[in-house]
Amino acid sequence: MNKPSTPTHSEKGAAVYSDCVLKIYDYWVLGLSNQYAWKCPTDAVLLPFFRQHLSSNHLDVGVGSGYYLAHSSDILGQRVTLLDLNDNSLRVAGSRVSHLQPTLIREDVLHSDGALGGAKFDSISLFYLLHCLPGNMTDKARKVFSSLAPHLAPGGVLYGATILGEEAEHNWLGRRLMGLYNRKGIFGNKRDTLANLQFALAEHFTNVVAWQVGKVALFKADMPLM
Ligand SMILES: C[S@@+](CC[C@H](N)C(=O)[O-])C[C@H]1O[C@@H](n2cnc3c(N)ncnc32)[C@H](O)[C@@H]1O
Repeated sequence: MNKPSTPTHSEKGAAVYSDCVLKIYDYWVLGLSNQYAWKCPTDAVLLPFFRQHLSSNHLDVGVGSGYYLAHSSDILGQRVTLLDLNDNSLRVAGSRVSHLQPTLIREDVLHSDGALGGAKFDSISLFYLLHCLPGNMTDKARKVFSSLAPHLAPGGVLYGATILGEEAEHNWLGRRLMGLYNRKGIFGNKRDTLANLQFALAEHFTNVVAWQVGKVALFKADMPLM
């Protein structure tokens, strides 16, 4: 798992997840920010949505602190693969579900090098990944969905959540966080819209649903168009 010494453009959205940041991630992002800035509470909305589509053969992309899996790993015989660009995220999330003996894959979703091989999954989650990626929604979502769609098993579902850009009309706290995170390259979501997300999903999947809770788009898709 060698890392280039100079971060590439797409690594900026991953580089911030140091051990220190991951220690406060659940409290700051999943607790305070989801409740007060993004208006999409973790306990009432995001965790139930994550659990609803979780299968016993799951791929989690953009794992962060591993919170969702750590709160869902009660399924008997659960198999899980974690994919992330950041070694810290992989290690921290992996250790939270170590009893599941997860497979860890370090890969940039925007520049896939085929690390998943021919693996197929019954569910693939992308929670709070797309808004971390640079570029416009159409381009980044196209790259992500085209590299993940072939890994969805027949009958499988790809699902996730992403913070929308300025069209979501953020509150005072949301505007401050959006400005700071976009300036630092932690987010790349200023112009992300629900319509662009739906469009990108529909380019790759037959059945697509996307809706908004607070400032967050939730989506699910199945039956990849190949
Ligand atoms: C905001 S965290 C989301 C964590 C978790 N899914 C959640 O919802 O709480 C974003 C995660 O995506 C990873 N990430 C960012 N850019 C990436 C890329 N280009 N390829 C793969 N992973 C990336 C980061 O390292 C981080 O672990």
